[in-house]
Amino acid sequence: MEKGMPVIDLAGLDGKRRKETLARFQDACENWGFFQVVNHGVATELVERTKRLTHEYHDAVLKPAFQQSEVVKKVEAGEGRIGDKDWETCFFVQHLPASNADKVPNISTELFETIKEYEQEAAKLAERLLDLICENLALEEGYIKKAFAGASGPFMGTKFAKYPSCPKPDLITGLRTHTDAGGIILVLQDDVPGLQFLKGGDWVDVVPVPGAIFINTGDQLEVITNGRIKSIPHRVIAQEEGGRISIATFYNPASDAVIGPAPSLLYPVFKFEEYMKVYAGTKFADKEPRFEAMKTRPAELDGPLNGLVY
Ligand SMILES: [Fe+2]
Repeated sequence: MEKGMPVIDLAGLDGKRRKETLARFQDACENWGFFQVVNHGVATELVERTKRLTHEYHDAVLKPAFQQSEVVKKVEAGEGRIGDKDWETCFFVQHLPASNADKVPNISTELFETIKEYEQEAAKLAERLLDLICENLALEEGYIKKAFAGASGPFMGTKFAKYPSCPKPDLITGLRTHTDAGGIILVLQDDVPGLQFLKGGDWVDVVPVPGAIFINTGDQLEVITNGRIKSIPHRVIAQEEGGRISIATFYNPASDAVIGPAPSLLYPVFKFEEYMKVYAGTKFADKEPRFEAMKTRPAELDGPLNGLVY
């Protein structure tokens, strides 16, 4: 397992580092649930433009309302910790199955066009990452996308959030601890700290790597992979020197998609005596190939069990 939060270089998928890169990607998914990817194929200029325009939209449109909000008044009054609100201002855009970017109030043409451009790239990257998960877990290509599809295809949307400077960060959390409900999440952020994920009982600061996109996995991937991949609790700490931007794109199941574990990732079902017949010849080998063997009900199950082999 990696010591620090994994940074996966997707360029390694082309050529002779592919096997090693897939193994590191699987470790990141199974043992971390959050990691960063570089050489992800989304142009730096597009990422930087998306972030700049998000800042501008927040400052021009959302900031005035936030400053007048109850939560700001409560924090400024300083009458104790606020546990049921977040120090966050955001807007949400749906991309798939249909875009509603034109419904964002007072959206500039430049931000609208940039969102249209970014969503295409984000969808490509999300689907590519889901297929890497499929490849690592021996699921057919496109399995997860299909599982997410419902009647009209997967859902994808982006939360454009800003965590403004907070005068009393000990009184409120930027975003309270939660796991993400959906599939895979792609996050653009800047270098202001605050995002933390839980790892082995400790909070780990997500320190952005220049040019990287941050990735985490949601509850539905945990279900589909029968727990091989986990969704990890995370939070955002409010900062006195704040202004952190977070552009989180959720590639999720459609609301009518029926979600369940992939059958090939489930433990097999068998009679114990059948298992013991396989165990008799494989007691001193790893158990995983034995479990796999039980899925195909090997021919020796038809024969008698000659003595116990506990
Ligand atoms: Fe989240």
